[in-house]
Amino acid sequence: LEADISARIDEASDGAALEAVRIEALGKSGQISELLKTLGKMSPDERREQGPKINGLRDRIAALIAERKAALEAAELDARLASERVDLTLPAPPRRKGSVHPTMQVMDEMIAIFADMGFALAEGPDIEDDFHNFTALNFPPKHPAREMHDTFFLPEGPDGTRKVLRTHTSPVQVRVMQKTNEKPPSWIAVGQEPPIRVIVPGRTFRKDSDQTHTPMFHQLEGLVIDRGIHMGHLKWTLDTFIARYFETPVVETRFRPHHFPFTEPSAEMDVRCDRSGAEIKIGQGTDWLEILGCGMVHPNVLRNCGLDPDEWQGFAFGLGVDRLGALKYGMPDLRDMFASDVRWLAHYGFSA
Ligand code: PHE
Repeated sequence: LEADISARIDEASDGAALEAVRIEALGKSGQISELLKTLGKMSPDERREQGPKINGLRDRIAALIAERKAALEAAELDARLASERVDLTLPAPPRRKGSVHPTMQVMDEMIAIFADMGFALAEGPDIEDDFHNFTALNFPPKHPAREMHDTFFLPEGPDGTRKVLRTHTSPVQVRVMQKTNEKPPSWIAVGQEPPIRVIVPGRTFRKDSDQTHTPMFHQLEGLVIDRGIHMGHLKWTLDTFIARYFETPVVETRFRPHHFPFTEPSAEMDVRCDRSGAEIKIGQGTDWLEILGCGMVHPNVLRNCGLDPDEWQGFAFGLGVDRLGALKYGMPDLRDMFASDVRWLAHYGFSA
């Protein structure tokens, strides 16, 4: 019997099988328990002889089971350790790295070019009041020009006026020139004395969405105020910028007469390009492409900002950053710029 039970103990391959063997041997009606029950019917002499034998058998089997149980548990632990081991030689999962958004890349390129020409950087708020976005810029009250910008208006404030999401960066012209008593946040440039030579990159907003318009877009404004400034300075500045931006010795440009309330005369500038292929090629071909608005700062704007137009003159321009970026780097649809599609961003993004 002992040999039979110990063989079965050895064969038990897991805890459950071992427990079954234990019940068969040592359980209430197990083989050894039944043997122990026979002691009661024995004569005292017989019992004195058999008792120690059967009890010894029970103790040895119990010890064997305990030993086997410990061995099985150790094996189980080993197996778990082996299966759950971290393999440090496996390659790490690829780490996704962010990239510089094309708009920001292009803005940095533009800022660097203008910094080279001696322009300082100015900023203004995205949420503007009517005065800076329109009135000070010589938009007559109730004039349709205010609607021309497809303005996003904010709800009426406690003072009964409605702020706007700025429709262009031109309000920062006013903030730079104007001397005010209010203390704006430190990042808003105010009250500079002429000569002024600033650029203003920033977000702008209009209710517009198609292949070449997005409701949020970026402009870069330029403003120069000094004595004796004329349109020749404006043309040279823009021609120099365009050639450097498109990394060509010269790009042919032309001024087309236009109207802005805040400049007089006003012009739109076109660049020479080839639009016959899928991608627009700048600086060659027979087509023209409009890229910015500009002009001489209107005397009324100078006056609104506390400058005497008989002493100070200036020019200003405003260009679309995203659109110039799309032109340089060949993006067919401006809306993709702000769709936050990581595949697009990975394809067109720039490494930091
Ligand atoms: N603010 C004008 C626009 O958004 C561009 C512009 C800027 C025109 C400065 C003239 C001078 O269309």
